[in-house]
Amino acid sequence: MAASLSYFSGVSLSATEKPSIPSLSTSHNRRVCFSNSSRSKHKHHDCVSLSSRWKPPCTARAIKIVAAAQKEPLKVMIAGAPASGKGTQCEIIKNKFGLVHISAGDLLRAEIATGSENGKKAKEFMEKGMLVPNEIVVMMVKERLMKPDVEQNGWLLDGYPRSLSQAMALENLGIRPDIFILLEVSDELLVERVVGRRLDPVTGKIYHLKYSPPENEEIASRLTQRFDDTEEKVKLRLKTHYQNVESVISLYESVMFKVNGDVSKEEVFSEIDKGISAILENKRTVDSASMAAGVAQ
Ligand code: AP5
Repeated sequence: MAASLSYFSGVSLSATEKPSIPSLSTSHNRRVCFSNSSRSKHKHHDCVSLSSRWKPPCTARAIKIVAAAQKEPLKVMIAGAPASGKGTQCEIIKNKFGLVHISAGDLLRAEIATGSENGKKAKEFMEKGMLVPNEIVVMMVKERLMKPDVEQNGWLLDGYPRSLSQAMALENLGIRPDIFILLEVSDELLVERVVGRRLDPVTGKIYHLKYSPPENEEIASRLTQRFDDTEEKVKLRLKTHYQNVESVISLYESVMFKVNGDVSKEEVFSEIDKGISAILENKRTVDSASMAAGVAQ
């Protein structure tokens, strides 16, 4: 990732471009900037107003300091059996933490909707409750992970990786999560959740006829059901899940965060929120330490 001034200015700017904010190489200006750990507009203006002349920013020291201050965005994986609540929780996590939600299942359903050869092949496997072959799914997820919005805001990977080979493909790219959330739900509940699930094609919102019913008649009348949401198919999907989950878990043991998914979605999120907030707090401490080290050198 290119060294960027976004931490200070709220705009992303390569260190080799002429900035609209003052150079970090003036000692006066630098002192003031680094006293501001906040990204608030007010403090940013303090920083700008103290510089009278623009200077080229590309001294080695300036770049080093800026790079040290660069915040690493948050990386979250969420896993669990079919209908354990991954999509439901992702919606809430995304809204609170601003991460880019990448759902392997959604990417595959979008591919099916295009009518492409890959989509047709994917559907054959999904109808049998089996994993779609890696040659289709790995590239799809990898390409999405490389997009600029992900680099900028961090990611929330839902339903990926689902096998050791998929996890290893990420490892080979140096992609690791800060936290691996595992939703644990009993099998009886999973079947009930699958058969009662409905989707709003207009908003993308997930409903459940019993646990999360539509708000009004208009929404209720347009809800759809997924082609793989039958009792027969969910049993096949569950079998596939249990065949693969252990090998994936073993790779992320050190960042594993298990959550009881048998309770209400609000209670599930409350636990997830604690886990992610603790990680963020830890990252802030590390960022401050590396920023201080950058200034000291
Ligand atoms: P995918 O779309 O990922 O399906 P899944 O893993 O089976 O998970 P679901 O989307 O069914 O459930 P969810 O956990 O998101 O639950 P939700 O929040 O909707 O994958 C589909 C297929 O694509 C796979 O079978 C496979 O073929 C293929 N595929 C996907 N990824 C792949 C990969 N990496 N490699 C190869 N193939 C891949 O909730 C479910 C219902 O429960 C909803 O109605 C919701 O309202 C309700 N609910 C949620 N939380 C609660 C709660 N706490 N209490 C009560 N109700 C709740």
